[in-house]
Amino acid sequence: MSEIKKIAVIPGDGIGIDVTHEAMKVLEVIRNIYNLPLDVKHFDYGADRYLKDGTTMPEDQVEDFRNNYDAVFIGALGDPRVPDMAHARDILLGLRFKLDLFVNYRPVKLTDSRLCPLKDKTEEDIDFVVFRENTEGLYVGMGGLFKKGTPDEIAIQEDVNTRKGVERIIRYAFEFAKQKGRPKVTMSDKSNVLRFGHDLWQRTFEEVGEEYPDIEKEHFYVDALTMQMIKRPEQFEVIVTCNMFGDIVTDIGAQLQGGLGLAASGNINPDGTSMFEPVHGSAPKYAGKNVANPLAAILTLGLMLDYLGYSEQNSVVEKAVEEAIHSRNVTKDLAGNLGTTESGDFICEQIKSGL
Ligand code: NAD
Ligand code: IPM
Ligand code: MN
Repeated sequence: MSEIKKIAVIPGDGIGIDVTHEAMKVLEVIRNIYNLPLDVKHFDYGADRYLKDGTTMPEDQVEDFRNNYDAVFIGALGDPRVPDMAHARDILLGLRFKLDLFVNYRPVKLTDSRLCPLKDKTEEDIDFVVFRENTEGLYVGMGGLFKKGTPDEIAIQEDVNTRKGVERIIRYAFEFAKQKGRPKVTMSDKSNVLRFGHDLWQRTFEEVGEEYPDIEKEHFYVDALTMQMIKRPEQFEVIVTCNMFGDIVTDIGAQLQGGLGLAASGNINPDGTSMFEPVHGSAPKYAGKNVANPLAAILTLGLMLDYLGYSEQNSVVEKAVEEAIHSRNVTKDLAGNLGTTESGDFICEQIKSGL
């Protein structure tokens, strides 16, 4: 019997709870069929817990995840009762920073051309991955307010780019391209304006790129990148960009494949505990109504299984999701008529029936 892998599950807030429930149903089915040595433990971190006793993400919990868990699965965080996202900052961004999850891996793949909002684009046209830097940039929370609430108020939000941070995500993107046989890496920044921070991105991309002579290097300023993602998405293979731009372009990527209900992501530390979450948020208006699409969370579960060494099981998940989409056994956002639970049930049945 191989070593037991430990998974922490944080359903979080809103539809995060609904979709995590379905992803865990799928995990249970897979675990039983393949007899996987997985130990799953649930944690109640989220808005309810925060409002009840002030807990966000205890320091010793981060240590516990780092030392004793292989992966953390998160549903979504965000609740209208906590408008400053104080809890999410500690839980979601806290884990990204403290577990040093510097790779935010967000694949963009169209499964059925019917779901793409662009006319005449096919499954072959939309198939790329975005590597979003996940531990620096505008997300570090450095800055402050001066003379708050007065007409002279000053708000400063620092954009932090380190050589180490930029280099490791760019190298990761090139390594991925090399290993997966992707012929090109596109780096996107705003170095025409951000003459310090993004000049570092330019120089680093050029230097690291020299180590990969067989891979084509391409650059777009981020405004042009967003335009090209709509105009000619088929040109992209691997995109690497900073934290803030990565956040924005991956919502565009999500829509190209059918919407946020289908977009999966992994927050990865190649040498440590990694965290997996759908790209979407807690969509409060849909919470608890059995309408949220659980497929992004289920595909995210697949990414987690792949990361844990179960690539065959990831393929099984992907095939079941493809079948659900092609046969229109999906939720309303994908023009189906299933509820969240029924959509999850369909995936479980697909997997049980051996596809
Ligand atoms: P959102 O992703 O929650 O929802 C935006 C819209 O996308 C929804 O109104 C809905 O129409 C659609 N949508 C998203 N997920 C869906 C699903 N699974 N099925 C069907 N439709 C889906 O973004 P938002 O409304 O901007 O943010 C809501 C809250 O979530 C905020 O507090 C925000 O900060 C937070 N958020 C959290 C995460 C995360 O936890 N990783 C990500 C994004 C936003
Ligand atoms: C995402 C989300 C988060 C981000 C928010 C909720 C902090 O939008 O994961 O894409 O901006 O990274
Ligand atoms: Mn986002």
